[in-house]
Amino acid sequence: SPVLIHTIRDLRAWRATATREGQAVGFVPTMGALHDGHLHLLRTARKQCDRVVLSIFVNPAQFAPHEDLATYPRTLDADLALLARSAPTHGPGADPMAAFRPLADVVFAPNPAEMYPAGISTDVREQRGTFVEVLGVSHQMEGVTRPHFFRGVATIVLKLFNAVQPDRAYFGQKDVQQCVVLRNMVRDLLLPLTVVTVPTVRSATGLALSSRNRYLTPDQMEPALTLRRALVAASERYEAGERRRTHLLKAAHAVFATEPRAQLEYISLAHPVTLAELDVVGQDGAILSGAFRVGTTRLIDNILLGCA
Ligand code: PAJ
Repeated sequence: SPVLIHTIRDLRAWRATATREGQAVGFVPTMGALHDGHLHLLRTARKQCDRVVLSIFVNPAQFAPHEDLATYPRTLDADLALLARSAPTHGPGADPMAAFRPLADVVFAPNPAEMYPAGISTDVREQRGTFVEVLGVSHQMEGVTRPHFFRGVATIVLKLFNAVQPDRAYFGQKDVQQCVVLRNMVRDLLLPLTVVTVPTVRSATGLALSSRNRYLTPDQMEPALTLRRALVAASERYEAGERRRTHLLKAAHAVFATEPRAQLEYISLAHPVTLAELDVVGQDGAILSGAFRVGTTRLIDNILLGCA
């Protein structure tokens, strides 16, 4: 089973040993309520690194006061049990011993005071201390309705990077804008690590796995698929040769028109690097992404058009 660490001090001691032993450290940051998407990040890290650190921290700075910080699932015991019973790898990786190791060597589960020595509030007007902003890619798409979200994400991920000092860090394609923001941060702040993006893990029905899926009632499972169906419909138009925004988005919006139980927030067709909205998909391809609500649960998903 993994070693459970709660303090920066103990984590630094563990990291010093890994450094002394010349181990390459992989890092998977999460907010817990682990599911197979998280486990897939760990499996990928396990194949590519000598040691794997998983962090579990529900980060107050990335929630707005009206969002679900208080009710976000906190299931540390169940998370640890899931890790203990999960098989490390499927197929061979760089490290032949990986199959005999737990999925994570360390679970780092700090408390908020440990990560925010100056204190933390979800109300930005009350915040003190140091924050990171990745300008240019944080305020469109998810950043429109969540204007302080990526500031909270970039800040906690930089803090976690400073605590763990990973050689490689793993993030899910499911949160595609988060991947773009964090790649920009690593580049701009000259951080000595590699960001790895891992494909989205889905249920058999196509629903992107998410910790927030546990808010869905059984009768909400079908409307929860609406965005996936809309993105696939547009993607099929793209595969058939369509490149115009209006036509691609029309195919996606048509799917939402048939499902009154799903409330669309936005659909974006954006350049994969700049995140600028596109009139026509060009050589670089596009990120087609969106957010919607089923009841009170907000869900996101995306699909890549013509880019890896
Ligand atoms: P969380 O939502 O717990 O997700 C942790 C990581 O798992 C993220 O990199 C996310 O993209 C990835 N992930 C979630 N669902 C996935 C799926 N179905 N398939 C593949 N990967 C998936 O994202 C966060 O936490 C936070 O913003 C965090 C980066 C930890 C900063 O607080």
